[in-house]
Amino acid sequence: MTEKINRHRDKNLDNPWFMRGALAIGLAVVFIALLNNSIHSSTVSWLETYGPGTESKICQQVPKLSPTNKQVEHYVRKKVDSVEYQREVIKKLSGIIQIPSESYDELGPIGEDDRWDIFFRVEEYLINTYPTVFESVKLDHANTHGLILTWQGSVPPSEAKPILLLAHQDVVPVLMENVKDWTHPPYDGHYDGEIIWGRGATDDKGYLVSIIESLDLLIKSGFKPKRTVILAFGCDEEISGENCGRPISNFLVEQYGHDGIYLIMDEGSTGIQREFNRSFAMIGVAEKGYLDVGINVSSTGGHASNPPDHNAIGILSEIVVAIESNPFLGTVTPKNPMYNFLECAAVYAPESSFPMAVRRTLSNAAAQDNNISQEQLDQALGDMRYHFKTSQSVGKINGGVKINAIPETASTMVNLRLAVETSIAQVKSHYESLIKTIAKKHGMVFKGFDSPCDPSVARKICLFGVDALEPAPVSPFDTESFRILSGTIKNVLKPLSQDDELIVTPYLMPANTDTKFFWALTKNIYRFTPVNLVENLNRAHTTNEFIRADEFVREPLFFASLILNADDVVG
Ligand SMILES: *[C@@H]1O[C@H](CO)[C@@H](O)[C@H](O)[C@H]1NC(C)=O
Ligand SMILES: *[C@@H]1O[C@H](CO)[C@@H](O)[C@H](O)[C@H]1NC(C)=O
Ligand SMILES: *[C@@H]1O[C@H](CO)[C@@H](O)[C@H](O)[C@H]1NC(C)=O
Ligand SMILES: [Zn+2]
Repeated sequence: MTEKINRHRDKNLDNPWFMRGALAIGLAVVFIALLNNSIHSSTVSWLETYGPGTESKICQQVPKLSPTNKQVEHYVRKKVDSVEYQREVIKKLSGIIQIPSESYDELGPIGEDDRWDIFFRVEEYLINTYPTVFESVKLDHANTHGLILTWQGSVPPSEAKPILLLAHQDVVPVLMENVKDWTHPPYDGHYDGEIIWGRGATDDKGYLVSIIESLDLLIKSGFKPKRTVILAFGCDEEISGENCGRPISNFLVEQYGHDGIYLIMDEGSTGIQREFNRSFAMIGVAEKGYLDVGINVSSTGGHASNPPDHNAIGILSEIVVAIESNPFLGTVTPKNPMYNFLECAAVYAPESSFPMAVRRTLSNAAAQDNNISQEQLDQALGDMRYHFKTSQSVGKINGGVKINAIPETASTMVNLRLAVETSIAQVKSHYESLIKTIAKKHGMVFKGFDSPCDPSVARKICLFGVDALEPAPVSPFDTESFRILSGTIKNVLKPLSQDDELIVTPYLMPANTDTKFFWALTKNIYRFTPVNLVENLNRAHTTNEFIRADEFVREPLFFASLILNADDVVG
């Protein structure tokens, strides 16, 4: 998973996996209030809408889905339960962690910058570790290091669309000076009998090994797929994705055409988690969008003894204040999968954590005053509020070289994460109207996002956008492929405690993955890590990244079951 805003490099800050604390009841409060804003006789309506017995209508759960090929399923399950297999697969993960396949922001092109060569070692490792797999699949390379493994099904892809499982080979670099902060060196792949430590353990080598291992298990079981299975491993997910992510996607679009894939699975910052004292399997069905906004202010310079009232730094400051004083507003709409998650919580959270009395009170409150202020919304949603709005963060500012010289230029960069309901165009237009006013006030030339910053103009404000990415289309969750994924989750994965039930819910991915290149291939893109994230406190991008062995060894069973279940629906 990529965290573009702040690559942390071992800094345990702002990690998306940590962003979601336990939800305050307040969240529920506001949600219900918003949800019911059209329902005025609230108590009765609320109970009718979300009370006991409504599970059949809202947040529908599918039953466990077990593959029809019992022989193969039995083989895989027995294998996964064996101590010998577990020892082997742990060794395989440990081995791949030992290859420091770091991707750097400033890498040159593949073939020119020899720091890419480490990925030859990853490929070689996979080929040596999985000889059976590589005998059975067709291996293609996209831009040298993008690996595409195709296990041909007996039914042509035009009749049974292939299933595509994604993972990335690269990891976020570990800075030299941070190595000492690791309990076990980041590239030892140390296994202490319980936990496998190292950079990439969760992000994303655990996922990669699980996927390829699932293929190994299925091939060795004698299973012959009807539906083609494709594994694709990127080499630069943690940076742009341009070197492998995009070429892999281009290759697949050429092979299978638009909408030519049945379902895509990729890493997720969500998995099995607890909210409202209930176990949820959270499937990332969307990702927020992304944009860095650059703002350059140029003004006339001169000696500090004869200054203008407002120089470039002053005007830029005014812009920053305007930006922060006019934040994007949060909204709760059914377009956002978080809305569906809250519906699931409303229906399935235990009364003690989401008490009916509280629901009623809230519902009444909503009926009396359904105009919720942004402050109330923010307060109630807590850390989760940014799932419901476009965030903005002024992350960089530059200007001035000398105390006695009037600065001629000043610039800033603002990082934006776009809410699913919005678009790059809307966000740009918000910035343009805000900043245009300031330019006008100071008699400066204004250049919006689409007009070049004319160097011959002395006094001007220019805007430019970098790394623009629209919010991902929301993947449907009323489809066969979603039901197959849900049924597989129910069949293979366990709730966090024995007396709980695992509820499958759509969710929003706060970070971006390589799936941003794959929208043309299918609407059914699901980001999900099949582990218990309470136990595997995710430390992606930071020190002491790890994965629990008992969880990791079962991941291949999940992917093998998914492949089998998706094969069963081929007519
Ligand atoms: C969560 O639910 C369990 C029963 O499933 C209960 O024993 C526990 O007290 C609950 N915890 C909270 C914080 O409500
Ligand atoms: C904006 O300012 C930055 C920092 O001074 C500079 O590197 C960049 O080239 C400028 N961009 C434009 C479009 O003028
Ligand atoms: C909601 O409240 C705000 C002020 O708190 C007010 O400006 C706005 O008009 C109200 N909207 C409605 C629909 O009542
Ligand atoms: Zn990552």
